[in-house]
Amino acid sequence: MANKNNTERIIALEKKHMMQTYTRPAVIIDHGNGCYVFDKSGKKYIDLVGGIATCTLGHGNKEFAEAVKGQIAKITSPSNLYHSEQQALLAEKLSNISGLDRCFFSNSGTESVEAAIKLARKHTGKSEIIAMKHGFHGRTFGSLAATWKEKIKAPFGPMLPGFVHVDYNDIKAVEKAISKQTAAVIVEPIQGESGVIVPSGRYLNQLRETCDKHGILLVLDEIQTACGRTGKFFAYQHACIKPNIVAVAKGLANGLPIGVTIATEKVAKSFGKGDHGSTFGGNPVSCSAANFTIDEIISKKLMKNAALMGDYLIKKLKEIDSASIKEVRGKGLMVGMELNGNGEKIVNKCLEKGLLVNLASEKVLRFLPPLTITKGIIDDSIIILREVIENED
Ligand SMILES: Cc1ncc(COP(=O)(O)O)c(C=O)c1O
Repeated sequence: MANKNNTERIIALEKKHMMQTYTRPAVIIDHGNGCYVFDKSGKKYIDLVGGIATCTLGHGNKEFAEAVKGQIAKITSPSNLYHSEQQALLAEKLSNISGLDRCFFSNSGTESVEAAIKLARKHTGKSEIIAMKHGFHGRTFGSLAATWKEKIKAPFGPMLPGFVHVDYNDIKAVEKAISKQTAAVIVEPIQGESGVIVPSGRYLNQLRETCDKHGILLVLDEIQTACGRTGKFFAYQHACIKPNIVAVAKGLANGLPIGVTIATEKVAKSFGKGDHGSTFGGNPVSCSAANFTIDEIISKKLMKNAALMGDYLIKKLKEIDSASIKEVRGKGLMVGMELNGNGEKIVNKCLEKGLLVNLASEKVLRFLPPLTITKGIIDDSIIILREVIENED
């Protein structure tokens, strides 16, 4: 009773004092352990949302906490007026892994896209960016203009000009949209927010060839796909290509805020002193968290686990025989189950039964669990999901 009252009190406070921009169920997530989270009343949930692809190493990771605590005790915000060891070490790691050369650190996905847009425009001296229908790049004005969904842009116009949207997974549409003013193409290797849309295996290679042919930049938004989630550190590594710029965030610091824009030497040197900046970007706490996260992804072979467990999850989801399911798709631990109707009821029923799943674009159940997930946890999730979906039929 005390817990119930406490939960109600906190939700009432939120309703009264917070801008109501999120739709939330009446649950307060209190703490976590690996792939499980617990609410204020102590109820346990299997977490297949993974903080929307941010919780790379699992919740409540003690070694991670120790690493970050050590940095917090040392210093948190010395500012970007001075050099920083954690920043330099992280920049070296990311440059080596990406095959690109230089990093700019910020605090979120949308900021890493903003930096990419500014860099592409400054480097090319051109203003147009080709983006994709159904693409999502963030909520600030540059990334919002690159985003497709009209509903989230319309109340805030006018948008930043210079963006055209073409069909995803259609190289001819990109070719047609190129003009003398085109600076770059921006694209997600797998579209996440619009429901885990996986393009053909050749698409990134075709984009690379087209961008090279026309002398324009290829900007990859790997905010959701990077950090090992698809089985390689960057999704573009499946296609054996390199972008000119890649934007990363979400899972890089295991849930602490960070964004990074990584570019080739040639492009990166167009950003000179004073061209861009961020007070908190590259702070030593987030950078030490990211350094620890990357080391763990590599030493614990989490990319391999993402590939194996992703295949297993897809196989088990495909075994659910239901008229409600249209398609199961994905790569690694970025998986979507498209339903024939709205999935809200299924998400709520799963929540009741102790399973967190998320809905992308109304009809797609999206699964983005920590990269540490095991077959046993997937099996337990499938039992709940199967029961809920079969009850819907
Ligand atoms: C592909 C992609 N780009 C950009 C963003 C924006 O990231 P953030 O919410 O950290 O600003 C997201 C967030 O979902 C995303 O999935």
